[in-house]
Amino acid sequence: MYGVFFEDINRAADGGLYAELVQNRSFEYDPADNAGYTPLTGWAPTGGTLDVVDDDARLNERNRRHLKLGLPAGVVNAGYNSGINVERDEKYDFSAWARTDQAAGTPLTVGLTDPAGKELAPGLKIQVRGDGWTKYTGTFRARESSTTGRLLVAGGGTGTLRLDMVSLMPQDTYKGHGLRKDLAEKIAALKPGFVRFPGGCLVNTGSHYGYDASTGYERKRSYQWKDTIGPVEERATNANFWGYNQSYGLGYYEYFQFAEDIGAMPLPVVPALVTGCGQNRATDDPALLQRHIQDTLDLIEFANGPADSTWGRKRAEMGHPAPFGLTHLGVGNEENLPEAFFGNFTRFRAAIEARYPEVTVVSNSGPDDTGATFDRLWQLNRDAGVEMVDEHYYNSPSWFLENNDRYDSYDRNGPKVFLGEYASQDNRFANALAEAAFMTGLERNADVVKLASYAPLLSNEDYVQWRPDMIWFDNDASWGSASYEVQKLFMNNVGDHVVKSTASGTPWSPEPITGAIGLSSWATSVAYDDVKVTAADGRELFADDFSGDASRWTGNGTGDWGVVDGAYVQADTGVTNPLVTAGDPTWRDFTFSVKATKRSGS
Ligand code: AHR
Repeated sequence: MYGVFFEDINRAADGGLYAELVQNRSFEYDPADNAGYTPLTGWAPTGGTLDVVDDDARLNERNRRHLKLGLPAGVVNAGYNSGINVERDEKYDFSAWARTDQAAGTPLTVGLTDPAGKELAPGLKIQVRGDGWTKYTGTFRARESSTTGRLLVAGGGTGTLRLDMVSLMPQDTYKGHGLRKDLAEKIAALKPGFVRFPGGCLVNTGSHYGYDASTGYERKRSYQWKDTIGPVEERATNANFWGYNQSYGLGYYEYFQFAEDIGAMPLPVVPALVTGCGQNRATDDPALLQRHIQDTLDLIEFANGPADSTWGRKRAEMGHPAPFGLTHLGVGNEENLPEAFFGNFTRFRAAIEARYPEVTVVSNSGPDDTGATFDRLWQLNRDAGVEMVDEHYYNSPSWFLENNDRYDSYDRNGPKVFLGEYASQDNRFANALAEAAFMTGLERNADVVKLASYAPLLSNEDYVQWRPDMIWFDNDASWGSASYEVQKLFMNNVGDHVVKSTASGTPWSPEPITGAIGLSSWATSVAYDDVKVTAADGRELFADDFSGDASRWTGNGTGDWGVVDGAYVQADTGVTNPLVTAGDPTWRDFTFSVKATKRSGS
């Protein structure tokens, strides 16, 4: 019943679960991913001439850019967060693709240092030979620990050296499969029954469902699994929905393998070609839809097909001849165009059931826990006899307490529920307790609620798009929230039967609210002006004309994204909420209205 939902949000993959320590290893970061990016984001020159180029000398068509150094020259990579995490006595595998125009070759010096240049491990000396791309490797053994490590790569002599896919991986990864150990272990300790991946809004909401005819790989593509398998240097990076570049180093093969490693059922979600998450766009291109349906059939073959089938062979070539045993697959996420979504869903479902009748095709009920879209989607799902419907909701702790009986009245003969995303909106003890109370209602209704996963699973504390989250981390440490402990408690102690219980007495009063006001929007790239938050009695709680000052906002309110982009922002600096008294332990319901001028965007 209980599982986890892994989405590449909050840098959960690159700089998170994927153990790669070099940021922007293939120089593919682009302002199209995030206005703050350049192809050299993460890198700093140490001298000499250097340029990131996309020319005929490229490594391959999917990995188009590389670093061109006029020798002697070098660069340093600072990883994620405060730097590269290095632990004494551990080994780190360096690799890079390189070519030189020097007939005698080019000496490459590779170092692992602190920010001041002090060695953390003995350096590597590599001789690059030939003007064709070759992969060079070496291993560091750290003599010292540091959380602010730097990787130095420098070419000596004269002429031109070209570099791409500069990588540093710890040898000590979860089960040797390239995932960061402490994070994978925390997830494994939950004993999840399934892993839903890779999103979320991430899956469905690219600007492009196809490929650009000229480059082949337009940025902001929806998540397309075929981009994410095979040799990592051939996986085209993408701008993801959450505003950063994704390398796809953690791709479909790795997701399946991770699910297997932790004894969980893999539950992938594919785009239905109808956007949700604040956008209202559906493809009207039948050929494109058919291509995605075929991709989904190919995905099932990749997961389950024999090692001599077209896609099963690719899985075998990556190291896993045995099938992964896919039994459930989601189509779409949080669409808010019910008819358009259901039309597409029906075509996916028919094609999958015709070829793979044993696979459960999971539908969804839109972005809310109630309302017209939710009702319409449920009706369509029910009428069509869909097996399982994905529900999502993020609500206050009081909502979770008050809705313990949500599933008591669900139709026992209708579609089963996959509660694919839920959380009460903060990371306090009170939230975890409200979730625990709610989960007793899920268990009481286990005949209807077949699967449930808290969301999101992971957040890098320096790159937050969404909170609350279950597990937090930086470059060297990770810690579970109170909600994590609740999930672990429930997942490790699944009951066999329900004990009838009654309660009396004074309702429990959770922790006081100490005053933050949230504002959320599901539109992408919307900037707001002149925000005013007014209480029901007319008192102004908060006003901001921004005047170029985004510092009072957390969440997505940064960069070129405008103030709100696909998640919430929270004004939590310098805001006094007169409706709340610090230390007052009683729950209060607030009614307030938000007025804002939309400045730009969709
Ligand atoms: O979990 C974060 C986001 O919340 C998901 O991407 C989306 O499905 C939901 O709205």
